[in-house]
Amino acid sequence: MSTATLLLKGREYELPVIEGSEGETAIDITSLRAKSGAITFDPGYANTGSCASAITFIDGEKGILRYRGYPIEELARQCTFVEVCYLLIHGHLPSPAELIAFDAKLTRHSLIHEDMKKFFEGFPPSAHPMAILSAMVASLSAYYPNSGDSELNIIRLLSKAKTIAAFSYKKSVGQPFIYPRNDLTYTQNFMHMMFAVPAEDYVVSPAVDRALNLLLILHADHEQNCSTSTVRMVGSSGANLFASISAGICALWGPLHGGANQHVIEMLQQIRESGQSPRAFVERAKQKDSGFKLMGFGHRVYKNFDPRATILKKAADEVLASLGMRDPLLDTAIELEQIALTDPYFIERKLYPNVDFYSGILYRAMGIPTNMFTVMFALGRLPGWIAQWKEMVGDDKTRINRPRQVYAGNTVRNIETLEEALAMTV
Ligand code: ACO
Repeated sequence: MSTATLLLKGREYELPVIEGSEGETAIDITSLRAKSGAITFDPGYANTGSCASAITFIDGEKGILRYRGYPIEELARQCTFVEVCYLLIHGHLPSPAELIAFDAKLTRHSLIHEDMKKFFEGFPPSAHPMAILSAMVASLSAYYPNSGDSELNIIRLLSKAKTIAAFSYKKSVGQPFIYPRNDLTYTQNFMHMMFAVPAEDYVVSPAVDRALNLLLILHADHEQNCSTSTVRMVGSSGANLFASISAGICALWGPLHGGANQHVIEMLQQIRESGQSPRAFVERAKQKDSGFKLMGFGHRVYKNFDPRATILKKAADEVLASLGMRDPLLDTAIELEQIALTDPYFIERKLYPNVDFYSGILYRAMGIPTNMFTVMFALGRLPGWIAQWKEMVGDDKTRINRPRQVYAGNTVRNIETLEEALAMTV
């Protein structure tokens, strides 16, 4: 095993070096504090490996993304979302028999307990569907306690989340809930629950169904991002699957993470409505004191291109064409991208469109409202969170996640007695 040598205050410390299966190098600092008293400092954990994982590989410099070794481009072209769920959770693509059994279980567990339907009544119609989704997912633990079969809970979560998501939309538009149908696939069922009404069925077109599968696959996992790390962080304390994933949903909601897809569309709408040019918005994003960022641009890991954005840009074009639609926001997005990609500010900082830049255009084409975009991201990311949670639970190296800090506050001081305080004021 190779080692790294750290020279600290005149003393040398040997630290083991770990090599990943794709050759990435990590210095194992687990013994550093015990040996030297020092900790490492890495706000935002940009250089910290929190675990060893066999699920997803990313090379941000080369724009590579693979789930369980399979390139994202191949999975996007050849698989359904359900197959990718199986792959992430079980480590291999399902055989035909495994797929039938998995699909059947997902179908059988898609109803939510009738009592849970009453929860929706308590939310105001204006409630953000992410608030409802996270609350309902945490509430599943009340119905399916941790002591139960965790494989079955995984199926329940995967299947019921789409029902909860669709119900949260129905709640927001004041329509009756539409129950899942056992003759439909996972994605068809979701669209059915979203858009059917008691008086009229909803038939999903093959183009929309394919686009939905594609979107969910592209979001399915992304190694140790903010929400996945949150799932692992919460799960490391022994919290159950539903509680851990609910926390991940909350982390995803933020505009710097999954919430960006909603904000991208709002930004594009704002550009069109303001009458200002996209260039003016690019200029504003460069001014640090403006508080404005180009939403859907930049990524902690990708520094060349985000392969998911490349796939989605092409898909947005194709899906709109096949539906005979034109979305002026797509034109604005393309113009904005071209300006940013040739601007020295964005070139120097290696800022490229990320997965959220074009996803909203596709969701709009499917009729999905803007405030549901992040819920769509959460549905896609579910198998990844579940796979990561399962890997963490089964890893004997897992310890409760508990970072250290560098304390920067007051050194010791004592509360003054009244007499002392009075003496000071005289
Ligand atoms: N617009 C303008 N400037 C930007 C942007 C942007 N979208 N993104 C980064 N920058 C600038 C930063 O201000 C910083 O500039 P500086 O070096 O002069 O201080 C530099 O580029 C580096 O960016 P950081 O914020 O340090 O990068 P970090 O890795 O911490 O953040 C993040 C990555 C959060 C994605 C950031 O690029 C961002 O806020 N983007 C917009 C929100 C977004 O699209 N989020 C979705 C991410 S993908 C996902 O979660 C699915």
